[in-house]
Amino acid sequence: MSSDGEEAFIDGLREQSMEKVMTIKVAINGYGTIGKRVADAVDAQDDMEIIGVTKTRPSFGCDLAVRKGYPLYCTYNDAEKIAAFEPAGYTCHGGLNDLLAIADVVVDCSPGKVGAANKEAYVKAGVKYIFQGGEKHAMAGMSYTSSANHTENMNAAGTRVVSCNTTGLSRTLVPLYEHCGSLKVECTMIRRAADPGDSKKGPINAIKPVLKVPSHHGPDVMTVKPEIDINSMAVAVPTTLMHCHSIVAFLPQGHGLTTESVLEMWRSNPRIIIMNGGETNITTTAEVMEYARDIGRKWGDLHEIFVWEDGVKLDGDTLYYFQAIHQESDVIPENVDAIRALMGTEADWKTSVAKTDAAISAYNGL
Ligand SMILES: NC(=O)c1ccc[n+]([C@@H]2O[C@H](COP(=O)([O-])OP(=O)(O)OC[C@H]3O[C@@H](n4cnc5c(N)ncnc54)[C@H](OP(=O)(O)O)[C@@H]3O)[C@@H](O)[C@H]2O)c1
Repeated sequence: MSSDGEEAFIDGLREQSMEKVMTIKVAINGYGTIGKRVADAVDAQDDMEIIGVTKTRPSFGCDLAVRKGYPLYCTYNDAEKIAAFEPAGYTCHGGLNDLLAIADVVVDCSPGKVGAANKEAYVKAGVKYIFQGGEKHAMAGMSYTSSANHTENMNAAGTRVVSCNTTGLSRTLVPLYEHCGSLKVECTMIRRAADPGDSKKGPINAIKPVLKVPSHHGPDVMTVKPEIDINSMAVAVPTTLMHCHSIVAFLPQGHGLTTESVLEMWRSNPRIIIMNGGETNITTTAEVMEYARDIGRKWGDLHEIFVWEDGVKLDGDTLYYFQAIHQESDVIPENVDAIRALMGTEADWKTSVAKTDAAISAYNGL
């Protein structure tokens, strides 16, 4: 080989090994509603890759993983459970511990409240971990939303991406807090009864108040932005499409804001869509979801929080507004940003958000 050729070859190897170092190896433990979406969002990024997803048994969902080319692992380490995949026609690459052995970070998308047992396995394997909103802040030790506390999560061992409602509240309240320097909030969560794919939950013909007052949603915002003084109540209603929040925020005197400047502030922040219901005829969550499908979003998802422009009113120091939350998807890009925070690869939250969202838009073909 000529010395020029040799140099090019060595440069190539160097580039390959740099790429390897830079590519974060991500495992998904629990390939359900949230897990399958996080997997695709991670797969779309150029600085991370999916190295495996887990299923408890060879069931609905394994086919999707195979079609996407994600290596399948068993949620358990039990040889019998691992062996059950083969006769059903799936190649299982091993148990959870085998997957953890090759991962930099695991995104735990298991059903709520099984996290503590899983955490033990992650800590033992020395793998960073991200839990979801069904787990308690205290168990995970840290909580995360991109706009509130990306920096505090830099290089942490693990965190919890807060629930869809808490993520939604943070998106609009954190910029308000940052402008005002203090903020008191009362809100009501009008919650969908179940995810669209969930046939077991209700109510189907009732309005069900959450009798634990305040509900956990408001106080949960304080796990990512303790400075916001917030309380919430919640009711579940018979719909599967979205949650809707009715929010009243009390701004400090001298805030200097108007209804228009609040809208402008939200427009200049990522992952918030503002539309005028009267002008667009998008006046209900049904039309918001139709809009998401029209613009070609995978699964009909809407990662952004939807605010009705004509439902926002600042009256003196009191701000009133409604927002709609697509429960299965607003937390998805936040998981991608949380991976960068834990791995310490991007310190600026807005840069991470821009990178995440551009890659997701590309996979949506937009
Ligand atoms: N769905 C939402 O709208 C939403 C929104 C925000 C946050 N979250 C939170 O996200 C988390 C996941 O919720 P989800 O809606 O995605 O639930 P899901 O659809 O029921 O999916 C959970 C998955 O976890 C797997 N699993 C069961 N036991 C497990 C274990 N011990 N360890 C690891 N995986 C296990 C299940 O696998 P098999 O299918 O193989 O049995 C299932 O695929 C929860 O904390 C939830 O509160 C959900």
